[in-house]
Amino acid sequence: MYPVQLKQVMKTYHLDAIDVPALVDINLQIRANCFTVISGPSGSGKTTLLNLIGCIDRADSGEVIVADQAVHTMSDNALSDFRAQHLGFIFQNFNLLPVLSTYENVEYPLILAKVSANERKRRVLDLLDAVGLADRAENRPGQLSGGQRQRVAIARALATAPKLVLADEPTANLDSQTGEAIIALMRKMQRERQVSFVFSSHDPQVQAEADDTVFIRDGRIINIERQAEKLGAVV
Ligand SMILES: Nc1ncnc2c1ncn2[C@@H]1O[C@H](COP(=O)(O)OP(=O)(O)O)[C@@H](O)[C@H]1O
Ligand SMILES: [Mg+2]
Repeated sequence: MYPVQLKQVMKTYHLDAIDVPALVDINLQIRANCFTVISGPSGSGKTTLLNLIGCIDRADSGEVIVADQAVHTMSDNALSDFRAQHLGFIFQNFNLLPVLSTYENVEYPLILAKVSANERKRRVLDLLDAVGLADRAENRPGQLSGGQRQRVAIARALATAPKLVLADEPTANLDSQTGEAIIALMRKMQRERQVSFVFSSHDPQVQAEADDTVFIRDGRIINIERQAEKLGAVV
């Protein structure tokens, strides 16, 4: 069972009279419970690819199957429910709500998912503990460092216990030491919680941690490297 399958996916942007092919004939299977990195230079199509997998944008053609659902056939309303239930997101610029505390930012997706107050509290406290922010629960994002903000974002992404978390260049706005700690934390959370993580990055630190690396250039997959020790161990 693959959490993500893409078949012959195409995506072209139209800028005035110019067509910009962002993804060309993408065929990709992402393995469950793995740390998968999408690697490529700026402009190669990483964000476009993650946005298709994350149901934030739609392919022009081809099939996009996420958590066994053919998401390319779903309505916009069904897609936003699907996203809220099954996917977690981590962004380069953290995307926290500035007026909410750490606690409230992590709780927010649980309120949207109509989780009961007791269960919300249990999950938020567990996650804040797991990401090392139990003592920052009352702080707002503006009172936190970049690394701490990304820890909040990691906790928030995992709040609804999604099976798939997508992270678009999650260490791009962090210094290398903080970035390394954030990668280690995501790795730990991925293993402990049996989640599949898909990242985009051109950061060698991120690639060194990957189970699988998908190399993308000019909108095309040019190579996929899968770590041998995990091959066959996870389907
Ligand atoms: N909204 C958009 N409108 C037009 N062109 C876009 C848009 N978003 C991305 N592109 C183009 O699509 C290509 C892939 O972009 P992107 O997926 O953002 O790459 P990456 O994340 O690897 O930097 C680039 O040529 C980029 O300029
Ligand atoms: Mg990008």
